[in-house]
Amino acid sequence: MADIEQLNGDAQSRIGAAEDLAALEALRVEFLGKQGSVSALLKTLGKMTPEERQEQGPKIHALREAVQAALTARKEALENAALESQLAAETLDLSLPAPGMPQGSVHPVSQVMDELAEIFADLGFAVATGPEIEDDWYNFTALNMPESHPARAMHDTFYFGDNHRAPKGGRMLLRTHTSPVQVRTMLADGAPVRIIAPGRVYRSDSDATHTPMFHQIEGLVIDKGIHLGHLKWTLETFLKAFFEREDIVLRLRPSYFPFTEPSVEVDVGFAIENGQDGKGRRVLGGSGDEPGHGWMELLGSGMVNRRVLEMSGLDPDEWQGFAFGVGVDRLAMLKYGMDDLRAFFDGDVRWLRHYGFSAFDQPTLSAGVGARA
Ligand code: PHE
Repeated sequence: MADIEQLNGDAQSRIGAAEDLAALEALRVEFLGKQGSVSALLKTLGKMTPEERQEQGPKIHALREAVQAALTARKEALENAALESQLAAETLDLSLPAPGMPQGSVHPVSQVMDELAEIFADLGFAVATGPEIEDDWYNFTALNMPESHPARAMHDTFYFGDNHRAPKGGRMLLRTHTSPVQVRTMLADGAPVRIIAPGRVYRSDSDATHTPMFHQIEGLVIDKGIHLGHLKWTLETFLKAFFEREDIVLRLRPSYFPFTEPSVEVDVGFAIENGQDGKGRRVLGGSGDEPGHGWMELLGSGMVNRRVLEMSGLDPDEWQGFAFGVGVDRLAMLKYGMDDLRAFFDGDVRWLRHYGFSAFDQPTLSAGVGARA
């Protein structure tokens, strides 16, 4: 009797102190294994008289159960502790680059589009989109370029084959500008409108400053009593925020686009500054008329043509508006200093590493739309 209690006390304290699963297994063998001490006690039952057995049997069985229960409890505790320490050791910072892997970066075009969305959101503009595979009618006809219009020839359009007839006549094409989004937005939402529409556009053209695919951002404002002053203020505010300079000076020149009347070509003043390499660089800011300065063509714009408003389902006697279109790649080149447009689309990791942005560089008006770590 004393034996059993002592054995149980001994087993409970040693099992409770077992430091790992291997030590616990050794204790299981020591007590409950074939040669184990509890097993040895069980074997004595066979040699007992029935009276002794009736007295000792339940005690020995209870001992075995108590030892088994202690082993199970300790095993569970050790396994939980092992899991806890594994979880603590394996915490993973998913924002860190994978070791030894090249780090991804945000392409300057994406970065600039995010910057533009941030700036225009602050001015109350929503972002609109349209299809890159476009109907001839939206890309040309509704923008006041009917079938025989000479301006169509200037667009170097990629047309689909004859078996891709456009629902509204003509053939399907790759949109040559983001202006069809103007028409789609007015037809879908009516007026007033305040949107920008960034996206890819396509023209069959290729050299250091032209690629067959490039990016534009379209702006459209439709409301009552909109005039050229609104256009000029909006462009000035946008370009000052984008280039992060207060001294941006714009020059508006009369121009021609079929879908705006009057049409305005916008130039921005720059100065030639000598870099450390002694080479002259164009730095935006100031009037282009100063000595050592010049004007650079930046974007096309104008008041939305009455005919476009009509074809977009609006009454031009009630609604007026302005529109502009600007090359996003060109804005990126001017702001971040690249000189060959073709490199934008080569996917060369060295270029991307140099000119790309960290995913943490979220453009915000408070931190600056050109923040760069
Ligand atoms: N769509 C014109 C282009 O691609 C730019 C533009 C847009 C001009 C809006 C005026 C108004 O050249």
